[in-house]
Amino acid sequence: MNTKPQTVRRTLRQYFSELGLLLDNPLSGFEVYQQRWGDVVPLPIPGLRAFQITHPEQVGVVLKIPHRDQMATKSLKDLLGEGLLTNQEDDWHWRRRIIAKPLGPKAITAFVDDMFRLTESWFARLNPEGREVDVTPELMGLAFDILIHTVFGANIKIDKDSILSLLEQYMREFTLDNTGWRRWLPPFIVTPGRRQRRRAIAGMQDLIRTAIAQRRAAPESDDLLYRLMTARDEEGNSLNDEQLRDELLTMILAGYDTVALMIGYSLWLLARHPAIQQQVHEELKAIIADGPINAETLARLPLLNTVLDESLRLFPPAYIIGREADKDLDLNGFQIKRGDQLLVPLWVVHRDPRWWQAPDAFRPERWLNGETAHLPANAFFPFGGGPRLCVGGHFAKLEGAIILATILRHSRVSDVNDDQLNLLASVTLRPVDGIRLRFHNHSPA
Ligand code: HEM
Repeated sequence: MNTKPQTVRRTLRQYFSELGLLLDNPLSGFEVYQQRWGDVVPLPIPGLRAFQITHPEQVGVVLKIPHRDQMATKSLKDLLGEGLLTNQEDDWHWRRRIIAKPLGPKAITAFVDDMFRLTESWFARLNPEGREVDVTPELMGLAFDILIHTVFGANIKIDKDSILSLLEQYMREFTLDNTGWRRWLPPFIVTPGRRQRRRAIAGMQDLIRTAIAQRRAAPESDDLLYRLMTARDEEGNSLNDEQLRDELLTMILAGYDTVALMIGYSLWLLARHPAIQQQVHEELKAIIADGPINAETLARLPLLNTVLDESLRLFPPAYIIGREADKDLDLNGFQIKRGDQLLVPLWVVHRDPRWWQAPDAFRPERWLNGETAHLPANAFFPFGGGPRLCVGGHFAKLEGAIILATILRHSRVSDVNDDQLNLLASVTLRPVDGIRLRFHNHSPA
C-alpha cells in the first residue's frame, strides 16, 4: 500500500503563473488546477494553506465539516453577527430548526400569490417589449422587493430603498476589503472606506431593529417575520430581537442577488436556445395559459423547472464553498492539517466531463431523460450540502419558477450579448457587463 503523502511540486514559474491566474481569472484558475494537478490541489497563495477540492466524494467530506472561522464567511460577520450563515456556535442547530420550518416547501406556498402579483406588476412597469433591457439590475430589484415583501408583509413601513443602497455600499466596501490593497491592512486601521462600511452596517441594523419593533406592536399576520418571531422550539423558546435582526439581515444578504442571477442566467441561456425556449412556452401555454400561476400549476411545469436546474449547474451563483479543517485529515492521500482552508469550486464540479455528458452544453432535457439518474452525490450542489445546506433553496426555486413563467408567458427573449458572458467571480458569480436581452411580444396563436 502506498502511504507516501501526496503533494504537488510546482516550478517557480508555474507557481507565479498559477497565482496570477487566481488573481486575474479565478474561474479558469480553478479549471487549470484541476486539469494540471487533480482533485486535491494546494492553492498557490503565499502564506496561506488552502486546498481546492473537486471530487464529489471528497466534496461530501468537506461539506460535513462544521463551520469554523473559514475565510469565506468570517468577513461577513460584522454585518450578519450570529445569523445562520456566519454562526459557528453551539446554538446553530437550535437556530436552524427554528428558521427552517417557516422556509420549508409547504410553508412557503403561502407566499406564491404575492410573488406572482409582485412579478406581474414589475413586468407591467418594466414594459420591456420591443426593447433591449439589461435584465440584471431589473431582476435584482424584483427579487429584493419580493424578499422584503415576504419578510415584512404589507403593513410594516420599511424603507427598502435605503436598505438596498446601504447593502450595496456594504458589498462594495466588502469587496474592496477582500480583493483590493486594503486586504493587506490590519483590521484596526480605519480607512474612509472601512468607516463607510461600518456606517452602512449601523444604518441597516437600525432599519431592521425599527421594523422588528413595529412588527411586535402590530397584529398577527402571515409574513415571514411574524412566523419567525412566533416560531418556538419544544421548550417554548423563541428568537430574541437581536437574533431576529441577524437572521433577517442574513436572509436579505443571501436571498436576493443569488435568485436574480439564477433567473438572469436562465433567460440568457433560453435566449441562446430558441428551440428550448419555444418548448417552455408550449408547456406554459398548455398548463397555465392566461390563468393564475399557483403552487399547483407550478408543480406541472417539468421543463421550466429543469431550465432552472441546468442554469444553476452552468452558472452557480454561489460558485464556491469554503470550510476550515476542524482536525487533521487525509484527503485522497493529501495530509490536510487542522486550520487549512478547503475550497470547493462548484464551477468545476458542475462541468466535470466525468459526471456530465456534453458538460458545457445547455441541455435541460438531461434532467428528464434519465441521464442524471446515476450522478454521484455532490456532483450537483448549487445550494451546498450537508448540515449547512441552503435554508432558502425551496424559496429560491419557487420564486425562480414564478418569475420565469411570468416573463416567458408574456414575452420571447433573444440575446444581444456577445458570444460569452463576461463573468466576475465576486461574492457571487456576476455578469460584469450585465445580461442584455431583447423582448418580443409572443405572436398571437
Ligand atoms: C438561487 C438562490 C440561492 C443559492 C444559489 C444559494 C446558495 C447557498 C449555498 C451554496 C449555501 C451553503 C453555503 C455553505 O455551505 O457555506 C447557502 C446557505 C444559506 N442560504 Fe442560500 N442560496 C440561495 C437562496 C437563498 C435564499 C432565498 C435564502 C433566504 C430566504 C437563503 C438563505 C441562506 C442561509 C440562511 C444559508 C446558511 C444556512 C446555514 O448555514 O445553516 N439562500 N445558500
